[in-house]
Amino acid sequence: MSKVAVVYWSGTGNTEAMAGLVAEGARAEGAEAEVIACADFSSASLDNFDAFAFGCPAMGSEELESEEFEPMWDDVEPELPGRRVALFGSYDWADGEWMDLWRERAEAAGVTVADTVIAKDYPDEEASAACKALGAALA
Ligand SMILES: Cc1cc2nc3c(=O)[nH]c(=O)nc-3n(C[C@H](O)[C@H](O)[C@H](O)COP(=O)(O)O)c2cc1C
Repeated sequence: MSKVAVVYWSGTGNTEAMAGLVAEGARAEGAEAEVIACADFSSASLDNFDAFAFGCPAMGSEELESEEFEPMWDDVEPELPGRRVALFGSYDWADGEWMDLWRERAEAAGVTVADTVIAKDYPDEEASAACKALGAALA
């Protein structure tokens, strides 16, 4: 059985809700999915999983959350090339530029980003379906 890690940071619950939907989508395809707060994840855990969905909302000025998520991402990024990776997160007032920048950064580091999903605030029906599809694709 495929094992999917859904690793996220969320301040007000929107990205956390997306993480739950990604895991739901993976489980619906028969995978085992673990939802993990980013503070509890590191590169040491990578080999325990077959695929990864990383979730972080737009913070700072179109940036990743800097206290917990970005240090974890800095740690795992060099070891992600060759693994199955997708990115997701919530935003509010801009247009999703942080996700474009995150994807570009990951790809510049050699990471193949299979898919990305963004949701304005709490995931609506369309974003919820996209989260589940992202999880299903990683399963
Ligand atoms: C400190 C801070 C910085 C933010 N920066 C951005 C931003 O640069 N662009 C944007 O579209 N939204 C920004 N937002 C809005 C959040 O991304 C949005 O509220 C999101 O839904 C939060 O997700 P969460 O509930 O998972 O924490 C920011 C919010 C906070 C609190």
